[in-house]
Amino acid sequence: MKRIMQSLFIAMSIGLGGLLMNSTISEEGHEAVLDSIVESIEIVESCSEKCRDCVFYPISKNQALRSDYVPRDIVGSGLNGGQEVSERIQKPLHDLFEKATELGVNMKINSGYRSYETQNQLFYYYVWNEQQANPGISYDDAIAKANVYSAKPGHSDHQLGYTVDVACSTCDSFKLDEKNKPVYEFLENYANDFGFVISYPDETTDQTGYKYEPWHIRYIGIKRATEYKQINEGREVKIPLEEYLDELCSIHENNLM
Ligand code: DAL
Ligand code: ZN
Repeated sequence: MKRIMQSLFIAMSIGLGGLLMNSTISEEGHEAVLDSIVESIEIVESCSEKCRDCVFYPISKNQALRSDYVPRDIVGSGLNGGQEVSERIQKPLHDLFEKATELGVNMKINSGYRSYETQNQLFYYYVWNEQQANPGISYDDAIAKANVYSAKPGHSDHQLGYTVDVACSTCDSFKLDEKNKPVYEFLENYANDFGFVISYPDETTDQTGYKYEPWHIRYIGIKRATEYKQINEGREVKIPLEEYLDELCSIHENNLM
């Protein structure tokens, strides 16, 4: 908060102060302007390479989190499947699971927070797997194949602690199969209401480089998840999350200029 207040002071000094001091704006108006400045500062902080809370950081194949980024509030999920998550998403995740139970959908968490090192091991395990499955394949081709379903270290939003993979409670793995279908349908319809979004929606492979992952949800808060859903409503080709976050970061950076 101290940093935010310092930034706020700087922002006010470089011009926004003029708007706030404008005597024609009511007290509520001043408060709204102030709130929007604070919001912009928080968003811009979360978009920066040095972010401490990287909730809106646009992670993609072209943009990585720093290798030493470790969330400060990792806890057990306390849900079926266990796994670790950021404490900030514990409640929304519990609420999401409660809603699923209410609708007769039984789910578990397959994967939660993954450190840079864990992602490193996982990614190169998949590369090795591709080499075993495709004898004679070049190392670069094995990397390219693995990178369609697994992110390179630093490029996975699991490193944020805000992402989980969800499956049906009796399913072994992530599959686009009948048993998992009710879970994926549930996530598609309700995850946004609890602040989560599907990071790699259907038919965005051309943009993201990853295949459809209906089980992989990232928390960005209810306000932004709802906005993201609305933006994509009725669109044949969905806007991938990384593009939405890029735009969100730019808009708020411009707000502070
Ligand atoms: N499966 C996604 C792309 C990840 O590894 O983060
Ligand atoms: Zn995932």
